[in-house]
Amino acid sequence: MSDSTQSTIKWRCPSNIAIIKYWGKKEHQIPANPSVSMTLSAAFTEIEIDLTKKTNPDTVLNYFFEGKKNEAFEKRILHFLPAVSAWLPVLSTHALTINSHNSFPHSAGIASSASSFGALALGLLDASYPGKYENDRQSFLKEASRIARLGSGSACRSMAAPFCLWGEDEIFSGSNDEYAVPVGPVHPVFQNIADSIIIVDDSAKAISSSQGHALMKDHEFAAQRFEQAGKHTRELLAILGTGDWEKFIRITESEALTLHAMMMSSPTPFLLMKPGTLSVIQTVQSFRKEENLPLCFTLDAGPNVHILYPADISISVRPLLEEIQKTGNYRIIQDQTGKGPEKLR
Ligand code: DP6
Repeated sequence: MSDSTQSTIKWRCPSNIAIIKYWGKKEHQIPANPSVSMTLSAAFTEIEIDLTKKTNPDTVLNYFFEGKKNEAFEKRILHFLPAVSAWLPVLSTHALTINSHNSFPHSAGIASSASSFGALALGLLDASYPGKYENDRQSFLKEASRIARLGSGSACRSMAAPFCLWGEDEIFSGSNDEYAVPVGPVHPVFQNIADSIIIVDDSAKAISSSQGHALMKDHEFAAQRFEQAGKHTRELLAILGTGDWEKFIRITESEALTLHAMMMSSPTPFLLMKPGTLSVIQTVQSFRKEENLPLCFTLDAGPNVHILYPADISISVRPLLEEIQKTGNYRIIQDQTGKGPEKLR
């Protein structure tokens, strides 16, 4: 941190959508299986951290979301900070006022914890070590990923693009349970993927992701699921290199449905899909068959549907989106592969 008593740091961090799903974790946010995600572009969090020198080492934090004090998320951050304070000396030297803003509407049904904790980790790490990583962006992003993971697991996958791998697998040297790494090489056909997010329902979920992860602990099918995720990860990474859309579709949809199958078959079964979710899935699959186009769906832990396809066939996909919009009167958020986090001046 600089010697001046006051300074400001700003970062933008994108959200991400998992292709291979992280569902189940061990202590300290260590994932039960590897996961692979695509980094988004339009869905991001921007954070502004105002730092003021203080004399007392206790953490001083004021957190505002969209201009308003947000005590619920401030509490979550205060719970997260002790776990990462050893890596963030700024916490003991400065009082923090954080202003956070999302590019997507609050009720859009897009999980904001990935981009929020991602942005927070980037800002706090940058504030702690000004200049240290100036010529080593990769190490900076690796450390930010490690810190973000302790806030929310999926947040660690927002630090690189277009795809990230989180979780150790002996086949991929450099893969790690503590942070995500970029995946490569990625074939050109997977470098620019459009993601049309169909907001089937934007109400608060009955079961949070964290509760869902916990239910994997005594899950009857946990071992098979974790093994399958490892197998899918290896297959997907090969596919990303060769550019095979057909295989990408098979794995992506299998992962989405398996995630929800795990929820439905967990010790306390629960269901996050809505009738509209199934209807959109069926419309996507019929359209794919009729038009013979490379597109597929994926789901996160909720009822909304992400439709993925090469951005350069967007015009051909438009009739599908119009049909979905007309039948369900759903809001659609348009996103695509992004480039990763960005420091703002
Ligand atoms: C279904 O990262 O939200 O979206 O680590 O408890 O914050 P916590 O969970 P979170 O879980 C994401 C689950 C998922 C799949 C994924 O993104 O891989």
